[in-house]
Amino acid sequence: MARITITDLKKKKAEGKKITMLTAYDFPFAALVDKAGIDMILVGDSLGVVVQGKENTLPVTMDQMVYHTEMVTRAAQHAFVVGDMPFMSYQVSREEAVFNAGRFLKEAGAQAVKLEGGVSVRKTIEAIAAADIPVMAHIGLTPQSVHKMGGFKVQKEMDRLLKDAVSVEEAGAFSMVLEGIPGDIAEKITREVSNPTIGIGAGVHCDGQVLVLYDLLGLFDRFVPKFIKRYAHLGEEALSAIRQYKEEVEKGEFPGEEHTFK
Ligand code: KIV
Repeated sequence: MARITITDLKKKKAEGKKITMLTAYDFPFAALVDKAGIDMILVGDSLGVVVQGKENTLPVTMDQMVYHTEMVTRAAQHAFVVGDMPFMSYQVSREEAVFNAGRFLKEAGAQAVKLEGGVSVRKTIEAIAAADIPVMAHIGLTPQSVHKMGGFKVQKEMDRLLKDAVSVEEAGAFSMVLEGIPGDIAEKITREVSNPTIGIGAGVHCDGQVLVLYDLLGLFDRFVPKFIKRYAHLGEEALSAIRQYKEEVEKGEFPGEEHTFK
């Protein structure tokens, strides 16, 4: 199967076909997501929370993102891979932003980068897009602004959200994540912009949906927001397998004859 391109994603929006996106952070899960035919893989800085066990995404570094993205691109044959720019990798200067965005393509083999913000990052998106690096924007609830927002809160200011959406599109972004936005506002934005909108906690009318893979699979339960649907309970299954192994080793039942070299 050929790799998904930006043209395919725009065609899906034009034809009213939904776009699928999931996060992945390593080779085995990226291979599963790719095999399932998901259109886009986001190597999200959410790995700071679901993989590293941190409180929020702020401590994640560029080197960690490049490390994880490289594992994912080695597995993804079909999906369009987006590397998430971590906090302070694009805020200090446009030169640094372009350099760091370039690392995702050059060192990690991603097809695009994502960064958070609307009107305030317009010039940064312009600079990265001018270097021919495809940029996905991310507006609404932007987790890197957790302290400014006073927590992870649904964003409801329609005028500001619309300005952000138009601004990132005009700056040259090819798509945008809409996170934590009421469904009716996400629907309006999706109608107003020509870029595909990918929702998370933004209702069904976005052009596509994204979820954190560990939430969908039931591998992360420290907190479970309203917008998450669990499609599996792998955490429980893994726990029961590990307990069974412990019990069998303690009872001398494992390894058996069949696991022993003669
Ligand atoms: O980091 C991430 O996984 C994200 C998605 C939740 C959109 O930004």
